[in-house]
Amino acid sequence: MVDGTTSLYGIIGNPVRHSLSPVMHNAAFTAMSINGIYVPMPVHDVADAVSGLAALGFIGVSVTVPHKKTVMAHLDEIDPVAMRIGAVNTLLFRNHPETGAVTGRGFNTDWLGSNLALAEKMKLPGSRVLILGAGGAARAVGFGLVEAGAEVIISNRSEDTGRALADWLGCQFCLREQLHLIQADGLVNTTSVGMEPDSDALPIEAKLLPDFRVVMDIVYAPLQTALLQKAAAAGCTTIDGLAMLLYQGAVQFKIWTGKQPPQDVMRAALLTELARRTG
Ligand code: ATR
Repeated sequence: MVDGTTSLYGIIGNPVRHSLSPVMHNAAFTAMSINGIYVPMPVHDVADAVSGLAALGFIGVSVTVPHKKTVMAHLDEIDPVAMRIGAVNTLLFRNHPETGAVTGRGFNTDWLGSNLALAEKMKLPGSRVLILGAGGAARAVGFGLVEAGAEVIISNRSEDTGRALADWLGCQFCLREQLHLIQADGLVNTTSVGMEPDSDALPIEAKLLPDFRVVMDIVYAPLQTALLQKAAAAGCTTIDGLAMLLYQGAVQFKIWTGKQPPQDVMRAALLTELARRTG
């Protein structure tokens, strides 16, 4: 029940209408009997939003597209790793009772979410992982893998963007036409290829899939993407698009509350919500 002592959490972005984060975090609050609520908040002006959230007493806020970079200029402190990545997806507000001042601190949990999802199925140090895509998600996945001691290869539709990310990561870039030459343990799709309604589309030729041991997709609608179906049929271990979302959310929850949330409850809530949406 929402009352005068309810702690406030939420997500800012544009759009946030379809975010699964509220379902995931609210399920954890309920399971842990924490009097907290997590709400989606569509935001245009991120500067106004940060000062508003601080003034209203919010404790923890997720940040999503398009504000992950621009929010950084409006925070008091930024975690050194988030600073290196150049993107913040998590805000923590602290109230200083003596002065009444509120400080906002930014973190990045996306790279940890990706590492935790992959590390469940493969040993990261010394492994080779091919990442398809070169946007914000690829940056977080690639950063995490390099941090964990894996060797990364980037491939992307737009060569310039792909090469820029590969340079930033200090790794190899591969043209899409040359993917058949790549030998790697893992494959991560960070592009939107395969997302509904174009759910038959594949981000890589199916005949190349048997070369990988582990295949992760960050697309979660549908949950069993064409890529994951073909990968499973080729004998690969698969990781679905809820894994990174879940683990980055679990790390956020720990930052906000100091407590480890029940990940099984959070995943079950995500699955229920996805099932509800697909009717
Ligand atoms: P995000 O922040 O979620 O990573 P993004 O920054 O828009 O999203 O990045 C989307 C990625 O998916 C990009 O690498 C994009 O490739 P381009 O750099 O060539 O645009 C890739 N992508 C999107 N649609 C694609 C498609 N139909 N085929 C191949 N790659 C696609």
